[in-house]
Amino acid sequence: MTDLPTVRILETDLSVLPSHEGAIVVFATPDGKLDQGARKLSTLMKKSLLRLVESEAFESAKIGEAMVMSYPVGIAAGKVMVVKLGRRPSVEEARKAGASIAKVRGTSDVLIMGGATSRMADVAYGCALRGYAFTAHKTADQDAVGAIDVMTNAPDEVQAATDVMMAIAEGVVFTRDLTNEPANVLTTKEFANRLKEMENIGLTVEVLEEDKLEELGMGSLLCVGLGSASPSKVVVMQWNGGGDEAPFALVGKGVVFDTGGISLKPAGGMEDMTMDMGGAGVVSGVMKTLALRKAKANVVGLVGLVENMPSDRATRPGDVVTSMKGDTIEVINTDAEGRLVLADVLWYAQERFKPTGVINLATLTGAIIVGLGHENAGAFSNDDTLCNRFLKAAGAEGEGAWRMPMGAAYDAKIKSRIADMKNVGGRDAGSITAAQFLQRFIKDDMPWMHLDIAGVASVKAETALAPAGATGWGVAALNRLIADVYETKET
Ligand code: BES
Ligand code: MN
Ligand code: ZN
Repeated sequence: MTDLPTVRILETDLSVLPSHEGAIVVFATPDGKLDQGARKLSTLMKKSLLRLVESEAFESAKIGEAMVMSYPVGIAAGKVMVVKLGRRPSVEEARKAGASIAKVRGTSDVLIMGGATSRMADVAYGCALRGYAFTAHKTADQDAVGAIDVMTNAPDEVQAATDVMMAIAEGVVFTRDLTNEPANVLTTKEFANRLKEMENIGLTVEVLEEDKLEELGMGSLLCVGLGSASPSKVVVMQWNGGGDEAPFALVGKGVVFDTGGISLKPAGGMEDMTMDMGGAGVVSGVMKTLALRKAKANVVGLVGLVENMPSDRATRPGDVVTSMKGDTIEVINTDAEGRLVLADVLWYAQERFKPTGVINLATLTGAIIVGLGHENAGAFSNDDTLCNRFLKAAGAEGEGAWRMPMGAAYDAKIKSRIADMKNVGGRDAGSITAAQFLQRFIKDDMPWMHLDIAGVASVKAETALAPAGATGWGVAALNRLIADVYETKET
């Protein structure tokens, strides 16, 4: 498990500046103003810091960018970073500043002189998240993460905000670790074990094994894992922080590896399918965050854990299976397996918990990447209120999402000649027909949203707050949605 750096919030104390040995960060406003701490540092550094903020290089630097002065004269620190940031930065600017600091600091300790600049918790959050590295399988790399010290004039306020932000960061890192983990390590069993461990932080975690899933009639989910030596599982995580109201439900696709099954995928890039449990990863990360910050809400997270492998026991194209709902499905392509898994978990979630709403997350279709690239997840919903609330939360967290259309004409594409439906509706509108398939397992009047995260769960290039690889997309947005809408507000 990747550790986050320790973040310590301290009262401003300028007397440490001459002798502090780690890196020191100060902020300069876009018009080159230094606060008291930075001015003191500049004096110690024989005014070299002033020269920097008066330079053209500083002028052309972007907000949130860090400029580095190495081995400065007059102080013990090996590095000083000057970060261009206003006194009242936006959330995005503050997090970007933190990310810039992370890229320079690597794993060494850093002292951030926040002074009177606001949103220091977001600076720490950006620094902690952008500093993430998945080193679990690197023999040479130490897993030292260093410490982030933040000095501020408002330590109590910043400490309270930081406690919440770090609970979110813990959830994001949990999601990233799960999503980055290769499939020989993160088997269905290992995944369930890691979720079970979250009982330590107050979640109720149940693992439903294959015999139970058979008893429940989950023929759709179970047909996906038939070819694998790893048993299929459904894990139910409950956080009850909100009294006795009905919970909100989060449902995730957890295909620990997707070969395509008998409809085998081509070899090129197949290794990427180690992230096909990304939806389940996000659900798990959100549950972790809610527990760590003791959210005043009732939320249940359900993940369907399966492996899609070809074998003599695997489901064949053309097979017909019966879902828990009772509807029959003609499996014309065993590579459209995520929807088969979700169908049964969605139905089970509604039957058992009678939730006030359901959001499912899945790396469901390659087609969503064709449509939206890696910038936005596809959002599909039967409920404008829920969808708009989510899009607003995602926007506030800098997590891209774009609503896609649905409708009867798309649904007609998954009609089957021999069963109630087939699992693929053809090449056209592939992401939408996948969403229509899922909606067939959503009860009338149940507010529901499906997030197709195939393009955003794991990416090849770095993003604002993550290195290449798993992003943890959605953890912050869903946490915010729950905080904004479902949490009982204290009065
Ligand atoms: N897991 C894939 C979708 C995917 C593709 C995720 C690329 C991440 C990156 C999904 O199970 C799948 O194979 N979908 C098929 C559906 C098709 C057979 C209708 C696809 O997108 O090709
Ligand atoms: Mn597939
Ligand atoms: Zn898949």
